[in-house]
Amino acid sequence: MTSDPAVAKSVEKSSVPLIGVLISGRGSNLGAILVAIREARLRARVAVVISNRAEAPGLALARAAGVETLVLSHRGYADRAAYDDVLIEALGARRVQLVCLAGFMRRLGPAFCEAFPNAVLNVHPSLLPAFPGLDAQRQALEHGARISGATVHLVTPELDAGPIVLQEAVPVLDSDTPESLADRILAVEHRLYPEAIGRLLAGGWHIEGRRVVFEAQDVSLPAGRASDR
Ligand code: GRF
Repeated sequence: MTSDPAVAKSVEKSSVPLIGVLISGRGSNLGAILVAIREARLRARVAVVISNRAEAPGLALARAAGVETLVLSHRGYADRAAYDDVLIEALGARRVQLVCLAGFMRRLGPAFCEAFPNAVLNVHPSLLPAFPGLDAQRQALEHGARISGATVHLVTPELDAGPIVLQEAVPVLDSDTPESLADRILAVEHRLYPEAIGRLLAGGWHIEGRRVVFEAQDVSLPAGRASDR
């Protein structure tokens, strides 16, 4: 403890967990994370936003929020691992505690996952393990699913298959198009992703097999529906 307010403020600032966000496009989930931080619903600081595409609209969101941005194209590397090394270096140099994929359209290999053990998160627009991969909303519609949803999960080298942190269901309507279903799922993603990030950063959880077990937090119902209990 210090009585010097300036020192206290800098200590407090440095103890805010740092996250890195990886994007490839629109960046609406990045936007939701930034809003959650601004509204003090999420205690974290985005240390850097990295895009593999210079034209990703999400970069402007980061810049507007005063967040450092990096464009690291995946092109021109001998293999996937060489690109992953560049990402690891950039995130490591900024001491990020958690890496959040937010519409990042690149697979990450084992070295990346090992560099940030159980600390890489992704948000996916279906109730995994149903409908992994691209066009998850179209897959759900074409399959005739009555319920889809959003999943936040830890990232492993296997696509969309890591331990699930939070999920929430979204009904599929007879009148849905892939776009209308995507819009309703996205609204859920925007609430669920910051919540999952906050829960992981708060600690008090461990992995049992494939399960993320929160020791002191009940995630069987989303926090927003706590009144349903
Ligand atoms: C979201 O639907 C997310 O679930 C998926 O990619 C999309 C990214 O959207 N992984 P945005 O760039 O965050 O707006």
